[in-house]
This record gives sequence, C-alpha cells and structure tokens, in this order.
Amino acid sequence: MTRRSIFAARTNWTLEENAYTLALRRHKRSGREILDLTVSNPTVCGFQYDETAILGALENSVGLRYEAQPKGLLSARAAVAQYYQEIGVTVDPERLILTTGTSEAYSFLFRLVCEPGDEVLIAHPSYPLFDFLASIQDVKLRPFRLLYDHGWEIDFAELENGIGAWTRAILLVHPNNPTGNFITTREAEKLNALCSRHNLALVMDEVFLDYRLKNACARGESHGSFACNSSVLTFVLSGLSKISALPQMKIGWIASNGPENLVRDAVARLEVIADTYLTLNAPIQHALPVLLAQRRSLQPQLLSRIGSNLDALDAPLATQNLVTRLEFEGGWYAVLRAPAVQSDENLAIDLLDRCSVAVHPGHFYEFSGEGFLVISLLTPTNQFEEGMRRVLTAINAT
Ligand SMILES: Cc1ncc(COP(=O)(O)O)c(C=O)c1O
Repeated sequence: MTRRSIFAARTNWTLEENAYTLALRRHKRSGREILDLTVSNPTVCGFQYDETAILGALENSVGLRYEAQPKGLLSARAAVAQYYQEIGVTVDPERLILTTGTSEAYSFLFRLVCEPGDEVLIAHPSYPLFDFLASIQDVKLRPFRLLYDHGWEIDFAELENGIGAWTRAILLVHPNNPTGNFITTREAEKLNALCSRHNLALVMDEVFLDYRLKNACARGESHGSFACNSSVLTFVLSGLSKISALPQMKIGWIASNGPENLVRDAVARLEVIADTYLTLNAPIQHALPVLLAQRRSLQPQLLSRIGSNLDALDAPLATQNLVTRLEFEGGWYAVLRAPAVQSDENLAIDLLDRCSVAVHPGHFYEFSGEGFLVISLLTPTNQFEEGMRRVLTAINAT
C-alpha cells in the first residue's frame, strides 16, 4: 500500500524559484547595484510618515485591555464608516468586519461562500497572490479575460461562459492591479445582472480605490465604491496597506451590502468566523482612527510620486516607437508593451543582466501573450528615470 503524504495536496506548490527570481538572486549575490522598478512597498520608498502620530496611537493604554468584539471594536468600525462617508458612501458600521489585512478577509469570504472545490470567477491579468489565497481555502479560480483596446474592459462573453454549477462569486479588483482600470458604471450594471441571474456574490477588492489618476484616459464613467452596491450580495474589501500606505499594520475590512436578508445572514456568519479567530489585536484597533487619518498626508505624496514617474515615463517613451505604455486610470503600476520577440521572463532577465534594472515580467500577473512588463510607479523618481532610460536604450538597441 502506498503511504499517503503527510502533507495535504493543497500545499503541493512548486517551490523552485522561477528563472527571473534566480537571476535576481544571482545579480544581488554578485554585489552589482540594481535599479529596482518593482518596489511597491511604500514604507521603503522615501515617503514622509508622521512617526509621532503613528507610534503615539499605538501606545494607547486602552490597548492593554482585551475586549472581544468579533466584528472589531465599534470605535474602529465607526472610523472606517467615516472614511466611506468622506468618499460619498454611507456604510453602516454594523455591516463591517475588521480583519488582519485584506488577505485574511479573502479567507473569511471564501469560507463563507464556497464549499471545497467551488469556483470563483476572477479577471486576468490580476494580483498574483489570488491563486494562493484561493487554493489554501480549497477554492478554484476560473479566469476570464480583461481585453485591452486603449483601455481595459471585461470580456463579458468569457465571464458568462465561465459560470457553471460550482460558481459562487465574481471577484474583481477596482481599480485592478496591475492594469489600473476602474470598473465602469455600465460594467457594474452587467455584473449586477449576472450575479442576480446566477445567484452569485460580488467580491470587490478596492484597496487602490483612492489612487485615481487626474488626467486618465477613461473608457467610460467609472463606478465609485461598491460599498453602496445594494442590488446583489456584495463584499467590498479594503484596508490600510494602500489607503494609508501602512501595509505593516495589517488591518483591513469587509463591508457587506446587498438585499437586506442576505446581508444580515452574511454578516452574522462572518461574525462567527471572526469570533473563531478571537478578533484582531486591540492596540491596532484603537489606533485605527489615527492610522486611517494618515491617508491625508500619505495619499498626496503617493499621487504626486505616481504623477512625476508617469511624466518621467511618458517623455522618453515619446522619443521612440518600440515600447509603449498601456492606458490606465489608477493604482500604483504601469504596464509596458515591448516587442514580443522573446518571452517576457527572458526580457526581464535580459534587462537585469544588461542594464541592472529590475522589472516584473507580465506573466507573473497572467497577461495573455508575451512582451508585457510591469513597473511600480512608487519607485523614487531619480531611480525611476535612470531605470527607464536604461530599459528603453536596451530594448531599442536589440
Ligand atoms: C489587489 C490587492 N489586494 C489585496 C492585497 C493585500 O492587502 P493586505 O496588505 O491588506 O493584506 C494587495 C497587496 O498588494 C493587493 O494588491
């Protein structure tokens, strides 16, 4: 009899590093400098944080008391509701569940709506960690394409084709990572119609919602937060990692909306899931109002960096024809299209070897086809300029 593995099959990941990561490691070991155009951790990008306010908020002595409130402390949920009020959306704090980051919110939601093996429809290209977040919860992701033509749009034919007996939800990032497109009001109507017809939940990841480009070329009127979407059961996920550029604080939330009876049921069930984990840590919940307020100084800094880098990108792009930038409306990333004469992974390795610049190959994000590179617009601008100069010189020289 063959012995069953001691490990669950869901953890049978391919742990070997991919060729790009190996190349990056080789490069670092050699001691050569790297101009990193992939850095998207805001805490290492030279932004000014109000250390006194942030650390002061964490020193609050009320955080020494343990007060189990499965949804999260009401004072913290009220601060989140106030954030929504300021962006024009009314959210009932009783419909909010606080989580240890948005990532944990996904686990809660997948457990809430999926049996093992059930499917969630997800747009491609998208955030690479979704595969792991889903598979850890025994959920299958079924992709549908975002199509590009001077802007991104949902391929509704493919989306609808993908709906089957096992489908439980449609998951979208608004605006998407890394393509930066907002869902339009027309798309929102179609999504609602599909969810309603097939009895599906809508899961909207809005971590980048506040990072809208000023002069973006939009394909249509973009939808605001889905936290006010009441026609189908909707779960909006967000958190401090992007809103206040504080990923290390690990605090996020789920805002539920939709038909009254469904929301009541959903929130009650989510509350039990949250209660099972004995709730988020107290000091961070007490600090939440102050941490959330940090967005007022952080978001302008990030938006200004994104704007400067975009100028620093578009100016040299305009002097050549081989590399173009795809249109986007928000978020922290830009997508470049280079001649697809080799795999995008080989292109990224080539750029590392030839000019010591790190960019992400598009296949990390499931772009269809080769020649896509993803760069972070949070990179300090002097590094960004020099990095892009080298990238364009290298590609135009081949
Ligand atoms: C689209 C998206 N969702 C969720 C997350 C994770 O957020 P958190 O740090 O709140 O877990 C990220 C992180 O980059 C992201 O890009």
